[in-house]
Amino acid sequence: MGNVEVIDLGAYGTRFTEDPYPVYAELRAKGPVHRVRLPMPDKQHEMWLVVGYEEARAALADPRLSKDGSKTGVTFLDEELIGKYLLVSDPPDHTRLRKLIAREFTPRRVEQLRPRVQEITDSLLDAMLPLGHADLVDSFAYPLPLTVICELLGVPEFDRAAFRKLSTEVVAPTNGETEYDAFVQLATYLRELVEDKRCSPPADDLLSALIRTTDEDGDRLSPDELRGMAFILLIAGHETTVNLITNAVHALLTRPAQLAEVRADMSLLDAVVEETLRHEGPVENATFRYAAEPLDIAGTAVAAGESVMVGLAAADRDGTRFPAPDHFDLHRDTRGHLAFGHGIHFCLGAPLARLEARVALRALLDRCPDLALDAPPGAWLPGMLIRGVRSLPVRW
Ligand code: HEM
Repeated sequence: MGNVEVIDLGAYGTRFTEDPYPVYAELRAKGPVHRVRLPMPDKQHEMWLVVGYEEARAALADPRLSKDGSKTGVTFLDEELIGKYLLVSDPPDHTRLRKLIAREFTPRRVEQLRPRVQEITDSLLDAMLPLGHADLVDSFAYPLPLTVICELLGVPEFDRAAFRKLSTEVVAPTNGETEYDAFVQLATYLRELVEDKRCSPPADDLLSALIRTTDEDGDRLSPDELRGMAFILLIAGHETTVNLITNAVHALLTRPAQLAEVRADMSLLDAVVEETLRHEGPVENATFRYAAEPLDIAGTAVAAGESVMVGLAAADRDGTRFPAPDHFDLHRDTRGHLAFGHGIHFCLGAPLARLEARVALRALLDRCPDLALDAPPGAWLPGMLIRGVRSLPVRW
């Protein structure tokens, strides 16, 4: 591997966090796969980054790219502190885990949640509207998916501000130390949550159902797996959707002509959601994969054990798949975008995320006819996993 050029993503500085697309375009112009060093000061490890659409799609579905780091001796904080879960397991474990919850998240099942999602949306707007201006993230985009997933799982009321700090730090760490602390605290929280529920009267929620599965048929879901499941559903269930809602509102408020078009024809809202997913999807890069055996990705030799990151944002801005890719265009064909991944790890929560975003955007636009930006958005979240801003000041 001696002569492979290593691209130090950290050298691009904060520009890369604010707007990674020019860098991805530059890399794509040179080839679909690159050796990169991650931009985090205390994470100096190198890995392969796939930036071309076809190659990314193929890599996401390639069984030779394992999600189970323990097979290659690479374990990350999440596996160490949280336990096994869907995104760090391969078949047959993955198949068994996913089967346990898949039926809860089918489009039909999720559609039954619509009235409750609408109610939560309405009450958040009832509280927000008298203010005249607010941070959309704090008042609306964050609490909506968090409340929905907490109700679904049966997570009791808790200190939301503290939890937000913790969970955002886990997906978009400021540095290695804060990330470690956040993982330790979250692991403790989840352990206590599962214990509390185990000791509580039987309830009709997803976590209680999973606990019953574990207790009655112990070999189906180990305590580690139970904690891992609570972790992935709770975190993936809201840290992503908050940015889908926020990025969609941000896109519209900075494009008055397209906003006017949507206001005149609200049936375009589905297109807003899909184009936001393609153009500024909440998950910038898929979670790590490892070569279980030596393989070739578009002419690049990847050795066994090496890490591979699949660039979802880079792939969805590949002009060979989506013409004029940097242009936000409600009328383009967005089919095939990779914002929810692809293959066996395809986002379990996609129907729920879409439902929440559609309900949220419609209600917000309906009730705020003069919605506008009130100040520039807050900082873009650090790291390469999540694409979103910390705050979006709006008025109406
Ligand atoms: C707009 C919002 C969302 C986006 C963009 C998103 C994106 C993704 C992506 C890209 C993956 C695959 C990652 C990979 O292959 O490395 C994934 C997996 C997953 N997502 Fe989502 N997600 C969203 C919302 C949700 C919600 C609301 C839930 C809650 C139920 C959820 C639960 C999951 C789970 C459990 C997985 C792992 C699936 C598996 O490994 O089989 N996601 N998501």
